[in-house]
This record gives sequence, C-alpha cells and structure tokens, in this order.
Amino acid sequence: MKPKVLITRKILAEALDYLQEHTDSEIGPTDRSLTKQEIIEKIGDKEGLLSLLVDTIDKEVLDSAQSLKIIANCAVGYNNIDIEEAKKRGILVTNTPGVLTETTADLTWALIFAVARRIPEADKFTRDKKFKGWELDLFLGKEVTGKRLGIIGMGRIGRAVALRAQAFNLETVYSDPHRLSPKDEMKFKASSLPLEELLSTSDIITIHAALTPQTFHLLSSEKLRLIKKEAILINASRGPIVDEMALAEALEKGQIWGAGLDVYEREPEIEEKLLSLDNVVLLPHIGSATYETRLKMAMMAARNLVQGLKEERPDNLVPW
Ligand code: DGY
Repeated sequence: MKPKVLITRKILAEALDYLQEHTDSEIGPTDRSLTKQEIIEKIGDKEGLLSLLVDTIDKEVLDSAQSLKIIANCAVGYNNIDIEEAKKRGILVTNTPGVLTETTADLTWALIFAVARRIPEADKFTRDKKFKGWELDLFLGKEVTGKRLGIIGMGRIGRAVALRAQAFNLETVYSDPHRLSPKDEMKFKASSLPLEELLSTSDIITIHAALTPQTFHLLSSEKLRLIKKEAILINASRGPIVDEMALAEALEKGQIWGAGLDVYEREPEIEEKLLSLDNVVLLPHIGSATYETRLKMAMMAARNLVQGLKEERPDNLVPW
C-alpha cells in the first residue's frame, strides 16, 4: 500500500506525476491554498505533507496529525513551520535550498534597476500616452554603477547578489552573524560591516536573511532612520524582517529615496500606504518564479518527501 500524503495545493505536473507514482496523494485545489482548518481536517491519517510557504504548519496542525513522518516544504524558507513542535514529534522537515539561488538573485537585480531607473513609473507614463518627446530631465533616476551595495544576510542568495554586483562595479559590504572566510571575502569582493554602519553608508541595501525570531523587524523604524535619504531598500526575502508600516512612512516622507519589495509583512495584505506611493516597486512574491526553478523546487520537495516516507535520509533535511 502506498503511503498517504497531503499536497496542499496543485503543484507542477511533473512533480505531481512523481508523487502519484510513489504515494497515495490527496491534492488541494488548483486556484487557492488550503486553509489551516482544511489542513487540520485532512492531515489526520497522512504520513507525508507537501506544504507551500503560505501554509501555516503550527502546533495546532501538528496536534491533528496522527501518522505524520515528514513535511516537505516547497521553499527554501521554512518559517511557516513550527520546527520545535515537529522535532518534539519526531517529524522530519525538508526545504529546497540551492535551486532558487540564481533566480532570486536575478530578481533582486531586476528590482534594484526597476527602482533606481523608475521603470514601472516610466512604463505607465508611456502607456498613458504622456510621452511627448525626449526631455533632458524626464524620469531621472539613480545611478547604480559604482555605488555601495549593502547586503544583509550573506547566505547563498546574498552571495549570488554580490557576484552580480561585480559586473556593475559596485563596492559590496555585508552584514551577517557569520563572517565569510577571507578567501570568500575576496571571491565575493565583499567586506563585513556592523548592520548600523551598513545601513548608514550604503546606497543600495538588499535583504537576504531568513526570518527567525532574531530577524523579525530587524529593520525597525529606528534602524530605517539610519538609512541615507538617497538610498534604495530592496527586500526579496521575508516581509516581517522589515517594519512595513515604518517603511511606508519613511518612503512617504522621503526619508528613503525608493524601495523594491517582493515580500510583505502580512502576505497577501500590503500596507495601504505603500500602494499609493510612486517610489516603491511592488511585486507579488515572485523571487523564484521561473518555470525552470519552480519545477526544480517542486521536484526537490517531492523527492525529499518520498525519501522520508521510505525511511531514507532526505537530501534536504532542515536542522532540528
Ligand atoms: C522560498 O523558497 O523561500 C522563496 O520565498 C520562494 O520564492
């Protein structure tokens, strides 16, 4: 008999076929995520769970899981899962590291340029038929080449962002509790700085940290005040790392020149004030959204799940 698994939302066909071959799968809807209540109702007899980053897998959900052996999260971040509670129950948790690094770094750079060169605003202006001819001061943006880039969180994605910065001749500084080796600091042409100094001296600041209790509101209103008036802030990691309301106020008052956000504090809700500002570019959490990468993520999660169910050590275990 194949092990019973719950897949919280329909995923890409190849990964679904693989899971259906190896498991007896119950699949959530195509057009929306299961609610927490629905997960609670369905999880009872399942040995495996394939979750997405929007699914909250907390104590209440885990209390309803009688047979669960493994949760395979289809994301590199796993802040949606209560790891301590999973550990208490001996439930393995896996994620999808590595496969989305380059795609997310690319999107980060797309956001940097979109903000610096005011691309969405200029696009709208052109579509609105307001373009009446070349003007010396039309949509003046910010130079990127040669500026100082401050990376908060120098893990895989932070480092991939730093490598790309070399092509634009930026000076890269980073802040991370784990300092890179001298060899890696050379390779990524990045020097370590305390967070406060990074914030007060960088022209472009980009966040690539995991969301943990330590990084929640790492950029509080107090920290946001350290950022230079002419600087750009990018967040393509997790929304709650930035105090979204404080950021909206800083952007509105012109205390920060511009921002590019792919993630929000209470997704899918977005602070109302942000929606009305021209100096912020807003994306719907698409950092890793290329077909190739999302397929790799889904296949990786599916394989992790099947490995765990076969009592093999899954390739991408999250440390307990
Ligand atoms: C992740 O995997 O954590 C990303 O946010 C998905 O794009």
